[in-house]
Amino acid sequence: MSIDLRSDTVTLPTAAMREAMYRAEVGDDVYGEDPSINRLQEMAAAITGKEAALFVPSGTMGNAIAQLTHAARGQAIIVGSESHIYHYEAGAASTLGGSPLVAVPNNPDGSIDLDRLRDAIADESDEHVAATALICLENTHNRCGGTVLSADYLAAVAALAHEHGLAVHVDGARIFNAAIALGIPVSTLVAPVDSLMFCLSKGLSAPVGSMLVGTHEFIRRARRVRKLLGGGMRQAGILAAAGIVALEQMVERLAEDHENCKRLAQGLADFPQIEIDPTHVVTNILIFYLLNRQQRRLSEAEIAPFLSKAQEHGVLIGSMGEGKIRAVTHYGIEADHIPLALAGIRRALLDMQL
Ligand SMILES: Cc1ncc(COP(=O)(O)O)c(C=O)c1O
Repeated sequence: MSIDLRSDTVTLPTAAMREAMYRAEVGDDVYGEDPSINRLQEMAAAITGKEAALFVPSGTMGNAIAQLTHAARGQAIIVGSESHIYHYEAGAASTLGGSPLVAVPNNPDGSIDLDRLRDAIADESDEHVAATALICLENTHNRCGGTVLSADYLAAVAALAHEHGLAVHVDGARIFNAAIALGIPVSTLVAPVDSLMFCLSKGLSAPVGSMLVGTHEFIRRARRVRKLLGGGMRQAGILAAAGIVALEQMVERLAEDHENCKRLAQGLADFPQIEIDPTHVVTNILIFYLLNRQQRRLSEAEIAPFLSKAQEHGVLIGSMGEGKIRAVTHYGIEADHIPLALAGIRRALLDMQL
């Protein structure tokens, strides 16, 4: 048996989800007539404290819809240089919406300095530049190692954005991990921002689907964009039924994933060939580097054999580019898997003769 730490997207639906899917009441959601989807949307709006919600097939589509809804063709969108939107979503807003993405450096904790954000905001007074419409933040921050942006930080960015007439969208694929780590309700955390996307299909373990939330007017316009992108599904209440179970039953247990991730990080820190700061690990994602005997970080090409060796020893982990190795804990990874994962990694390190 392998211990799969590549991503929390590998989670499988629970028995309760499968049962709920089997029994789901459904209708045509493009007509707004799917009772399961309507219920999930009401739940998502209530939990996040926003007026309305929209069920979408994926986090990528949710982020794309948000960007296309907030920013008109030719208006710029500010994103973090390490953000998922910038790295892994095929440049959707530029490709589909004609919006340039302006990447501003992320700090190691996933934040972006307010001064840098302020400097990156452009208005129409200068005919040379695309005027900014939107700032996107990511919480938790994937490529920064599952780091959490605080409620105060979100409020500060929203204040800056609103002062300039801009909107703020949060890619909250893992917003419940952030809220649990902070010990506050999601609704408090996202209160100052204009829209939020969160995934049901990651740590919450639903098989498919994400939610986009915001004002009634934003969601009305977002529905049109969802249709445009081909994301209007029909009897998708089958999927929403699993999402309802995810929100009802799978949120609180994310704390276990955080504990397991912390323990994994502490174990990894004991290996001299591994560079990791366990104090940086606050949710379910950790990132580490391999070191050679001269304490130089191994490159992307050099870590490839380690990943294969780890797999041979029953541990699946992934690379994030630039020699970064990512491990993610999730539903299905139990506390007693952590020493087994560490043992597999120890064997892989021995094989590498680092
Ligand atoms: C931070 C973040 N945002 C968005 C997404 C996209 O979600 P999906 O895979 O559902 O398109 C991911 C997926 O891993 C993610 O990690």
